[in-house]
Amino acid sequence: MNANLPPIQKVLFDEATIQKRIKELADEITADYEDILAIIVLKGSMFFATDLLKHITVPVEIDTMHLGSYGMKGMKSEAVRLNNDIVSSIEGRNVLILEDIVDTGKTMKYIHELFALRNPASVKLCSLLSKPSKREIEIDIDYLGFEIPDAFVVGYGFDYKEKYRTLRDIVVMEPE
Ligand code: IMP
Repeated sequence: MNANLPPIQKVLFDEATIQKRIKELADEITADYEDILAIIVLKGSMFFATDLLKHITVPVEIDTMHLGSYGMKGMKSEAVRLNNDIVSSIEGRNVLILEDIVDTGKTMKYIHELFALRNPASVKLCSLLSKPSKREIEIDIDYLGFEIPDAFVVGYGFDYKEKYRTLRDIVVMEPE
């Protein structure tokens, strides 16, 4: 690993554990829907979303949106910024947002406020991880992979300064 990056502390969820939970979530989602407009929140949830969506057996359309943070400084994020919006109209659609993690809740609040102006039939959230100890805004997560403690994770889409996304496991990084 790069000497300038904080070292990995431990594996939190290995590949098999992640994939097993994703299949369970996909089965739950399949049972609840007749059709889905899935919105992948880039970049963090891209691995999660593609693995999940392959197991869903009702018709799915996919769109993406790219959100970032102003002043992203490694482990600390600030205000949410919309880098790229979705292309589809969500009016009258059953929208399922696929998110990597709900941390403070600021990102999800931003998306909910944006989508509320567009008259969808329904909006639900599926998040791979949740860090409840860091929550500043209450967010309902309809489908949750795992709750995690207050630690900074990388791998399986999660990054530290754009590094580590491609690890197959979700691992905890040493604090900066
Ligand atoms: P929010 O604080 O709920 O708005 O989350 C903002 C974003 O910060 C998430 O979508 C992630 O991309 C990122 N994030 C939060 N916690 C972690 C982490 O432990 N590792 C990597 N990225 C994280």
